[in-house]
Amino acid sequence: MGAEKMDLKELETLYLNRQSCREFSDRPLDGELVKEICRVALLAPSAMNAQPWRLIAVTGERRKEILPLLQRLGMNKFLSGAQALIVVAEGKNSGPMKVGAAFKENEFLRNDLGILTAHLVLAAQAAGVGSCIIGWRNEEKLREALGLGKKTLIPEIVALGYPADGYPVREKKRKAAEDVFSLF
Ligand SMILES: Cc1cc2nc3c(=O)[nH]c(=O)nc-3n(C[C@H](O)[C@H](O)[C@H](O)COP(=O)(O)O)c2cc1C
Repeated sequence: MGAEKMDLKELETLYLNRQSCREFSDRPLDGELVKEICRVALLAPSAMNAQPWRLIAVTGERRKEILPLLQRLGMNKFLSGAQALIVVAEGKNSGPMKVGAAFKENEFLRNDLGILTAHLVLAAQAAGVGSCIIGWRNEEKLREALGLGKKTLIPEIVALGYPADGYPVREKKRKAAEDVFSLF
């Protein structure tokens, strides 16, 4: 497969429409679709192709078990309406990761998980599913609740669900490209 060109404007539209959804409808989200979104997102690149990750989809009643761990100081109340909470976590070392383990203490691991998260929210958007990246979390308690190892990194969680009826697409507030881009 070559580097096939796609319409950058179409991609821009996807980026513009992807936004943090903070009001979900109660429309159920098909488990197979969640799996498919994750499968596509897992095409994300990673340092040395180590793929040092795992995605844990928390759905149904089990959501309630981890919700309080994501709702600190009155924040993230809207998460109660999310249909799936995808925990983006460090995975087990395997194959190329044995070499990659040398990088475990540095930023590659965190970068890789962040890149996966970006792929996840964009894949969700492409499937017409709303999302919100959640950085507020009680990492220690989350690890316990999910039976993960004591040092397993969980940099973020991605909430998924259909946006509430009439939920508006907000205008993006971003720094102007000319202020943050330069040709050297
Ligand atoms: C690492 C990370 C952590 C975030 N944590 C939260 C969070 O805990 N709660 C929340 O409502 N939004 C959270 N966000 C969403 C950001 O506030 C949002 O992406 C940003 O304001 C830009 O808005 P947009 O996503 O609608 O374009 C987080 C985003 C990132 C990338």
